[in-house]
Amino acid sequence: MEIGYINGNYIGLNEKAVPIEERGQQFGDGIYEVIRVYNGKAFMLQEHLERLIKSGNAIKLPIKQKIEDFRSLINEAIVQSGLTDSCVYLQITRGISARNHLFPDVPISISMTVKPIIPLAKSIRENGASAIFHDDERWANCYIKSLNLLPNVLARQTAYEQNCVEAILVRDGMVTEGTSSNVFIVKQGKVYTAPLSRYILAGITRVAVKNICEAESISFIEQSFSKEVLTKADEVFITNTTSEIVPIVEVEGHMIGTGRPGEVSRKLYNKLQQLVADLKE
Ligand code: PDD
Repeated sequence: MEIGYINGNYIGLNEKAVPIEERGQQFGDGIYEVIRVYNGKAFMLQEHLERLIKSGNAIKLPIKQKIEDFRSLINEAIVQSGLTDSCVYLQITRGISARNHLFPDVPISISMTVKPIIPLAKSIRENGASAIFHDDERWANCYIKSLNLLPNVLARQTAYEQNCVEAILVRDGMVTEGTSSNVFIVKQGKVYTAPLSRYILAGITRVAVKNICEAESISFIEQSFSKEVLTKADEVFITNTTSEIVPIVEVEGHMIGTGRPGEVSRKLYNKLQQLVADLKE
């Protein structure tokens, strides 16, 4: 069953929970994480929690809880939900306080949802999807998983209105990432993705892909590329926690490779499935 959690209480998702004067909703003053659960087990939970703490430190959130506390909180919520294949969204905001830009001296707010996973359409998995390019209009601290997602939301809606699954963001002519994914190209069997910097989120699925490449002796090259290079790549794929690895076969009228999901993308997806299947045992 879908469940919600806020500051120590489990609640239904439609129950009233957040007061008007909440920093998350008034300022977007907070951070979040999204964790995929396979057969009741959270995938790469440690990595997600380390990133959560990193985001919290970056915006000076006074988080007293330790990684172990968040681990227990999340695992308990997974059990409470009774869901085996689900997604956990965890939000931390600077708390509830009368509107004022300055940091209040109040406890942080922690909220969470556990919901069943909405599987990616089979047709996309099999045939790939389309994407657009969009100017990366975000701020200069995209390594923080901030609740402020307005530029992402606007770019993603623009993509959706053009029947595309993602907007590939471009800053100074170079591809950074997607609105909610990391972006990869394959050229002559080698995988390329933008290097870690303040302009991209250090994706956890990106780490999984990097590990798989290392195990399979596939070159994994962290190097920026332009949108022109992307359109001429043999394969393009995007990654994130909820959709895993999604092949992109068309970008703004440019067919990528053969126009079908490529061999490397397929292999990486299959290897990821093996990893999560091992988690299920
Ligand atoms: N988004 N880049 C951005 C901007 C993202 O929002 C995400 C994830 C990623 C991929 O990160 P990961 O592999 O850790 O999921 C990259 C999540 C899924 C979301 O906002 O719902």
